[in-house]
This record gives sequence, C-alpha cells and structure tokens, in this order.
Amino acid sequence: MSRVLRADAHAIGRAAAILAEGGIVAFPTETVYGLGAVVTADRAVARVFAVKGRPTANPLIAHVADVATAQPIVTFDARARKLAEAFWPGPLTLVLPLKAGGMVSPLVTAGLPTLAIRLPSHPVARELLAAVGLPVAAPSANRSGRPSPTRAEHVEADLGEAVDLILDAGPCPVGVESTVVDLSEPDRALLLRPGGLPRAAIEAVIGPLDERQAGEPVKSPGLIGRHYAPSRPLRLNAEAVDADEALLAFGPRVPAGARHTLNLSPRGDLAEAAAHLFEMLRALDREDVRAIAVMPIPRTGLGEAINDRLRRAAMAPEPAAAA
Ligand code: TXA
Ligand code: MG
Repeated sequence: MSRVLRADAHAIGRAAAILAEGGIVAFPTETVYGLGAVVTADRAVARVFAVKGRPTANPLIAHVADVATAQPIVTFDARARKLAEAFWPGPLTLVLPLKAGGMVSPLVTAGLPTLAIRLPSHPVARELLAAVGLPVAAPSANRSGRPSPTRAEHVEADLGEAVDLILDAGPCPVGVESTVVDLSEPDRALLLRPGGLPRAAIEAVIGPLDERQAGEPVKSPGLIGRHYAPSRPLRLNAEAVDADEALLAFGPRVPAGARHTLNLSPRGDLAEAAAHLFEMLRALDREDVRAIAVMPIPRTGLGEAINDRLRRAAMAPEPAAAA
C-alpha cells in the first residue's frame, strides 16, 4: 500500500488504526498538515520529535475532536470557554493548565504544567480525531525549521519514508498555523503566536491580548529563532528586484526583472496570501536564485501572522529551537 493515500473514509479508518496502534500519521488540518501521535503513546510522540528533528524542549499541540475529549486533561476557565465557543472548531490553540493525573505523555508538554490544545475544523482532521477518540499531539509535518507543509507533497518531500501514512486532502485552506493564546495565568491572556485567527477576532471576545515583554522568559520555545525558512536568504519589504532574485509579490503592482515571480494575491487579499505563503516560499527556493525578495505586506488581519512568519524565515540561520 502506498504511504500517501487520498483521504477517503477507508484511508481515514486506516490512519486511525495506525495511530491507535502507536504509529505516526500526517494529516490535513485547515491551517497546515500535522504529524500526529496519540498523546498517551510515549514512543510514537518521541518518534514525531525524531522524524522532524525537533528539539524535545519544544512542546506539541494536542488536537481533539470535541471539547468533551479535552475536559479530562485541561482546565477551562470562563475566558477559555468563551473562546472555545466562539472559535472552535477553527485555527485557535489555547494553552491551558494541565490537570493532574492525566494521560498526556510528558513528552507532549515538554514537562510544562500546561497543554496547548486545539479543535481543528478540517473535515478530515475531525473525522480522524473522532475515530481515534483520544487527543492527538501534532506539530506541523515539516522538517524542523522548514516552511510548514500546506500540501501532502510538502510532507512527502520533507519526511518521506519516515512516517507510517500521509493522508492527502489537497491544499490547506488557511495556510498559516493556528493562533496560540496562553490562558494559563488567570489574569493575563498572552498572544504567543499570531496565526490563522486574526487578533482582532479574539480581542472582540475577551478583550486586549498581552504580549511577552522584553526580558520575560519565553513560554513557547518554538517561538524563538529562525523558523519556516527556505534554504535561500529572504529579503523583506523589497520595492525593486534584482535579476538573480526570485520575487514573492503581493498586490497588483509588481516590479519587473526577477528571475521568477509568484504573487501571493494579485488582488491584495490577505486570506488568499496566507493560503499561498508556504507553498510559494517552497516553490521559489530554487538553485538558480541568489535570494528571495518579498514585497511589503500589510500587517492588518492575517497580515500579522504572514509578517511574523516572514520575519522569522528571514533570520540568520542558527541551530536553536525550531519546529
Ligand atoms: O495550526 C497549527 O497549530 C498546526 C496544525 C498541525 O495544528 N500545528 C502547529 O504545531 O503549528 P507546531 O508544533 O509547529 O507549533 C506549536 C507551537 C510551538 O511554537 C510551541 O512552542 C507552542 O505551540 N506550544 C505548544 N505547547 C505549548 C505550551 N504548553 N506552552 C506554550 N507554548 C506551547
Ligand atoms: Mg511548526
């Protein structure tokens, strides 16, 4: 049987069985493809870290089919309940206090007293999670530090033979990872990672989000350092382009002269741009270009997540924590 299966009911059943037996499966979500292991299976979770080349100090997100599956393992306060009600299923991850005596492998949380949890909206993810019946820990299914995969082909290119099965449901509709909000402290809501759910939508429900202050300890080890990066250097906020560069364009007015040009959204739509971001970064990462120039992208709405990913992809290479 092929390692990549079109995500029909049969393939989803097969994937659920592999997970239940302690295997690892790549599956689509509305944001990006994830690489899953059930949260109770220490060895499978360890394999997820190994296959990605991910530092074990960087905790994973647990994915659930419904709130009832999350209730025995984390504590929801009033804010968490409001956000879950408003935005689940969808691209929002909540970091919540872990309940004592639960079943979650400490590898998933990297030993932290909190757990990141999310209820994805992609129908294949939901069917798979419902069939497994347990929370599934799943980081993005890329090699650590690379752009996240938004197609099954990206997972194959990065992880190939190393996973037990890849469920293929075509491109992911959102294209950037979930927004991560830390509610583990009762008097503070911390935006740990801008993502597929715009900040303003969250603030409309629970009020202003805080951000980590300079000097404060990093609560999300995956959020420091270079990440999402192609092999060629990125040049951000490019207004003009050189002949040996590739151009990642945005909007209707595109400078001429690049060796290759791809446009995130010719009509300047940020949701369309987010959906294309990682795929186009991969596609422009070619031997025949010196660098990838990226046009300026507005910071509103999904633009906050897009600019965050670009900024981190443009950082100088370093071996530190990535995911
Ligand atoms: O959209 C997504 O969130 C995708 C799909 C597959 O669901 N998943 C994803 O996972 O992006 P990953 O592992 O690439 O990113 C998870 C982020 C990391 O930055 C990690 O450090 C942070 O969430 N995180 C996980 N658990 C945490 C915790 N207990 N406290 C703080 N940060 C946490
Ligand atoms: Mg990741």
